[in-house]
Amino acid sequence: MKEMLNVALPKGRLGERVYDMFEKAGFPCPSIKENNRKLIFENEEKGVRYFWVKPSDVAIYVERGAADIGVAGKDILLEYEPEVYELLDLNTGKCRMAVAAPKGFSDNKRRTLKVATKFSKIAADFYRKTGRDIDIIHLNGSIEIAPILGLSDVIVDIVETGTTLKENNLEVVETIVPISARLIANKSSFQFKGDQIERIRDSIREQLEEEND
Ligand code: PRP
Repeated sequence: MKEMLNVALPKGRLGERVYDMFEKAGFPCPSIKENNRKLIFENEEKGVRYFWVKPSDVAIYVERGAADIGVAGKDILLEYEPEVYELLDLNTGKCRMAVAAPKGFSDNKRRTLKVATKFSKIAADFYRKTGRDIDIIHLNGSIEIAPILGLSDVIVDIVETGTTLKENNLEVVETIVPISARLIANKSSFQFKGDQIERIRDSIREQLEEEND
């Protein structure tokens, strides 16, 4: 029996868009489009098994080999530095990591800057390079509230449309890094299932090039 290729997809709209790329690459699994609460779908004939996981968990599945390949945001790769191969920029799920603050904020450099974020490592790396003394307050969500309530001076967070910032009277002070979804692979899977993985990578790369033409 052919060995199955295990693919971890981020649950949600991004994952659905990305699944279409895998389908076009020759790894369809139509049952995935049935609207139910199942999390694992397989197409034995094509030798592929998809599972939906929380977007921030994809890299863990791939790093540990529970998935051979997956799709993860560059934000997660920068924050957790999982031991995986980053094979391709999927040019989707685009947003940016940015510093944001209440409108009119000015930084008093004599004081330690309080930074609220879910991305402690990205924030620490960024401010280390600027030499700014900071105090990181690690939060798990609704980061935008922190400066409003005086918990922090600024936030480091993902900005996509900018709506969340705007609706909370915050604005971008500085962009740290652009973010997009990446195709990642488990390092040993890339050796042992290299043919299938490279086929997918090459096909998706071609699909992206065609889009740009
Ligand atoms: C992210 C981010 C912002 C929002 C930005 O949250 O933390 O809150 O999206 O998007 P916008 O610029 O289009 O308004 P996400 O919905 O990913 O989840 P979270 O609340 O768990 O951070």
